[in-house]
Amino acid sequence: MSVPFLDLRAQHDPIRAELLAAINEVIDSSAFAGGPFVARFEADFAAFCQTTHAIGVGNGTDALWLALLARGIGPGDEVITVPNSFMATAEAISYCGATPVFVDIDEQTYTLDPAGLEAAITPRTKAVIPVHLYGQMADMDPIMEIAARHGLFVLEDACQAHGAEYKGRRAGSIGHAGAFSMYPGKNLGALGEAGAVTTNDPALAERIKCLREHGQSKKYHHSQIGWNARMDGIQAAALRIKLRSLARGNAGRRAHAQHYDRLLADVEGVVTPTVAPGRTSVFHLYVIRVPERDRILAALGQRGIACGIHYPKPIHLQAAYAPLGLGPGSFPIAERQAEELLSLPMFPELTPDQIDTVAKEFKAVMLSPAGICLSK
Ligand SMILES: Cc1ncc(COP(=O)(O)O)c(C=O)c1O
Repeated sequence: MSVPFLDLRAQHDPIRAELLAAINEVIDSSAFAGGPFVARFEADFAAFCQTTHAIGVGNGTDALWLALLARGIGPGDEVITVPNSFMATAEAISYCGATPVFVDIDEQTYTLDPAGLEAAITPRTKAVIPVHLYGQMADMDPIMEIAARHGLFVLEDACQAHGAEYKGRRAGSIGHAGAFSMYPGKNLGALGEAGAVTTNDPALAERIKCLREHGQSKKYHHSQIGWNARMDGIQAAALRIKLRSLARGNAGRRAHAQHYDRLLADVEGVVTPTVAPGRTSVFHLYVIRVPERDRILAALGQRGIACGIHYPKPIHLQAAYAPLGLGPGSFPIAERQAEELLSLPMFPELTPDQIDTVAKEFKAVMLSPAGICLSK
């Protein structure tokens, strides 16, 4: 049996009729860009995230970027984040003309280490972007406390964490704003590109709404230079339907993670995910650490088990950020983990049989003659 990394068809087949009806409704009303379908999704998504506002935008990168711009981040400013994220987290900082400053991560949760945050703050620091990686939120209490002491804006990168919780509070509701991606493979995925910013700050919400639509506060009255970052009506209508099954999908992912945990617990050398006390992960990805990662990835691929690496090269080592002058050794934890990380198949519709197959093939590959076993 082969096992895909992600099966979006399995997600959409049971709700295909509902999705098509919603798309038809948008076509009938011609509300394609922004408009009532977006407004309805925004209301539902804000309620889901326990915030007063959600602003639909074009994608998660727009969400990060416009939230920073709305806070006035610009040239000469520094924004602190982690090097083990998707490139977009740093790109959004660069789009504002600001400089990304990285801090290393916590060994267990792969999220921003608050101990490193304080040390990285300079008089130019204006904001911090903790990334809720793989579905688990960063350690928000100390991050908010340090940020408050230094007057920093906290933007949660919640692109992988729709519905994740920290001490009972939802991703996107603790910082001054949260940025979400609805890229199709995310826990809440559109039928194309989409994103959203959440916030409890009405003034910030208004500025983001203005920026997403060419800086206009009123039709054809432009108070500033903005961008075209509207959400599509069709995406909003589809997302509104998919939002109804997000909690169920997240629960399914958690059950799959526990199943993997049980099956992999006895494999020497493998580090399974740690969810810190008080946090509820939504397992956007199920990421383990293994020795000889590249050999194992290739051997699993040959056996029909599709895996991934998130992410093989930390952002500070990307050619695009060479001008920052941060070479190997700058962030040892993130760098070491980038060599060991392996993402196993994870999506709500995954079956127990598929998980058993992944674990069986994984163990066979780990124990094969070329394999070595490191101690935990
Ligand atoms: C952590 C993180 N930040 C930002 C983004 C950017 O989102 P988008 O692809 O919707 O622009 C992603 C999406 O992959 C992500 O995973």
